[in-house]
Amino acid sequence: MSLDIKRSSINKTKKKTGFIVKMQLNNNNNRGGNNKTNLFFIFFRNYYRWVIWLFLSLYFFTSYFAGDQSSPSTTTTTTTSLLSNHQTSSSLPSRALIESSAILKPGGPFSGMKIYVYDLPARFNVDWVTASDRCASHLFAAEVAIHRALLSDSSVRTSDPEEADFFFVPVYVSCNFSTANGFPSLSHARSLISSAVDFLSDRYPFWNRTRGSDHVFVASHDFGACFHAMEDMAIEEGIPEFMKNSIILQTFGVNYKHPCQEAEHVVIPPYIPPESVQRAIDRAPANGRRDIWAFFRGKMEVNPKNISGRFYSKGVRTAILKKYGGRRRFYLNRHRFAGYRSEIVRSVFCLCPLGWAPWSPRLVESAVLGCVSVVIADGIKLPFSETVRWSEISLTVAEKDVKNLRKILERVAATNLSVIQRNLREPAFKRALLYNVPMMEGDATWHILEALRRKLDRSYRRSSVLSQ
Ligand SMILES: *[C@@H]1O[C@H](CO)[C@@H](O)[C@H](O)[C@H]1NC(C)=O
Ligand SMILES: *[C@@H]1O[C@H](CO)[C@@H](O)[C@H](O)[C@H]1NC(C)=O
Ligand SMILES: *[C@@H]1O[C@H](CO)[C@@H](O)[C@H](O)[C@H]1NC(C)=O
Ligand SMILES: *[C@@H]1O[C@H](CO)[C@@H](O)[C@H](O)[C@H]1NC(C)=O
Repeated sequence: MSLDIKRSSINKTKKKTGFIVKMQLNNNNNRGGNNKTNLFFIFFRNYYRWVIWLFLSLYFFTSYFAGDQSSPSTTTTTTTSLLSNHQTSSSLPSRALIESSAILKPGGPFSGMKIYVYDLPARFNVDWVTASDRCASHLFAAEVAIHRALLSDSSVRTSDPEEADFFFVPVYVSCNFSTANGFPSLSHARSLISSAVDFLSDRYPFWNRTRGSDHVFVASHDFGACFHAMEDMAIEEGIPEFMKNSIILQTFGVNYKHPCQEAEHVVIPPYIPPESVQRAIDRAPANGRRDIWAFFRGKMEVNPKNISGRFYSKGVRTAILKKYGGRRRFYLNRHRFAGYRSEIVRSVFCLCPLGWAPWSPRLVESAVLGCVSVVIADGIKLPFSETVRWSEISLTVAEKDVKNLRKILERVAATNLSVIQRNLREPAFKRALLYNVPMMEGDATWHILEALRRKLDRSYRRSSVLSQ
């Protein structure tokens, strides 16, 4: 992007100015007349650039505030709703593009943070996508999406590891799909990541000097870096020792102490392809009517199996099915259907009960398709909860209260439903939950970078500059 090129030349100017000031101090001792003329000339040239810089920053500053009506801190907005007005959806990309230019303010986004993305052999990442398209689109595909988004970004990514604050380790561990049932096997995840770490710690000095504390991994499956779909097994195996110092971007999050989040981490949204969201919006009824009142489609066992003392969804889904299956206003379906997102876009309430893990892709799908998520997963920590105000766009029902679900939803429908729906139309929420390539301001990768910025105290480069 041309704006980006401008910004980097501005940075260079800044560096050069610092250098010139230093030169001038040194030269004051020499008092070289010739040098002085040269310095004046160089200074004039720089001054000239500073005028342009000032002009550009004023321009960005004003356009930033002019286009900032969708920031999470503004509740009232004149932006037309994506869902109630389908025609506006086509104008979104250009709007996002305009906004993404606001991020390239002189001085650099994210406090000038730099990330180095390791170039690992294809067997650690791209080979898995080559082997199966699903690798880049299924519900664990955040590991692919974040990698691609970082590669597409030239404002934060650096090709010089010496100037990096963080090191991104791109290993795709969720794409070893079982030929029997299509589910990803995670049994190889620890050894694959471990050999990636061996690879980079042999060839680069960066891992050893901090024992990986400025290195970033993605763990986008059920129980984060514990790499097991069953909680007991996940807890028993724990986070691999070598990853415990690092930063883990994970879909798993609970608001209590849990062995599978005992590493520095950021709770991130699961991956939903933005194209599929757009397709569902395009196919939505033209009048925007939501004719399904309470929606759920997915696994619900009639007779839940006791798997070594644990029941799927802690029996919550079974309880919902038993009490509300076949009831008027409840659209509950146990069968897989690829077009289920076109049902979400027609629904008022979308139930998001826990599965084995508390999180589910429904949280994102509902929010971005304008359906009010009904989160039924005690203790869940939702993605980007520092910036996305989940309590204003979703409902939380305690697991023990599912038997009163109908009453709870009826009360909301009679009181504050329209407030929640209006909050949900705020484009910033939708944007924060989706990954784009290239990255856009305010999207999921952008929020991850913002979260990393707050961890810059881990940057080896910065701490060594400070201690000099
Ligand atoms: C993929 O998973 C299977 C079954 O768990 C395992 O036997 C195999 O080694 C894994 N493949 C790789 C390349 O790690
Ligand atoms: C980092 O440490 C490991 C294990 O101690 C060692 O094998 C490796 O050679 C070291 N890497 C570098 C670049 O010195
Ligand atoms: C489930 O199975 C475990 C043994 O694996 C047993 O101890 C427990 O009592 C069973 N729970 C129920 C509710 O049947
Ligand atoms: C709506 O009302 C429910 C209780 O009926 C409450 O739990 C929820 O926080 C309210 N949400 C908003 C956004 O006002």
